[in-house]
Amino acid sequence: MNRRHLLKNSLLSAASILVLPQLVRAQVACEVQNTPPQTEGPFYPVINQVDTDADLIEFKGAMAPPKGRVILIEGHVQDQFCKPVRGALVEIWQACHSGRYNHPSDTNTAELDPNFQYWGKSITTADGFYSFRTIVPGAYPAADDWIRPPHIHYKVSCKGYVDLITQMYFAGEALNEEDKILQRLSLNDQKQVIAELKNPPLYPHPLAVFNIFLEKL
Ligand SMILES: [Fe+2]
Repeated sequence: MNRRHLLKNSLLSAASILVLPQLVRAQVACEVQNTPPQTEGPFYPVINQVDTDADLIEFKGAMAPPKGRVILIEGHVQDQFCKPVRGALVEIWQACHSGRYNHPSDTNTAELDPNFQYWGKSITTADGFYSFRTIVPGAYPAADDWIRPPHIHYKVSCKGYVDLITQMYFAGEALNEEDKILQRLSLNDQKQVIAELKNPPLYPHPLAVFNIFLEKL
């Protein structure tokens, strides 16, 4: 093989590496998986925070990092025709590491983490992409015989689409098996709302991918 061929082959290899993530994203983005709606629950944010960005770890005015396992969540918002939904508002809210919400209706006596943001927003890009940095929330008691597994609440809205309210769960959590909200869903629907934490190269924290489908009006 002469030098010209070697150079051409090495450039092709470099190009393959550079475009691979895009190819993987495109394949994932074209599998329609209906996102089942679930209850909003009683803890949708009502406290007007100064900081509601997509990074729930860096909370304006916090004296220290929040407690808990830091993770990243990302995904694409698409419609039922596999088209990316640009400019969708993705809101998440969740408990802190101890299982407590920053909400006046939460009667849980677990400690509130003053350094955690609890609530954040992300606007999807032109290809429907959104992301958050947060922590794995704690489990919390919902009744005497019911502990809710770690989960993150979602509200996704965009003009021209049906609003979606749902919850995302973590694969491998034993409490998933007995959760009265998750278990209302069919097995197939459960798969759409349970995300697996993985450690992809170059990501500084474990990543959960949660793709969302909105219904176009
Ligand atoms: Fe909840």
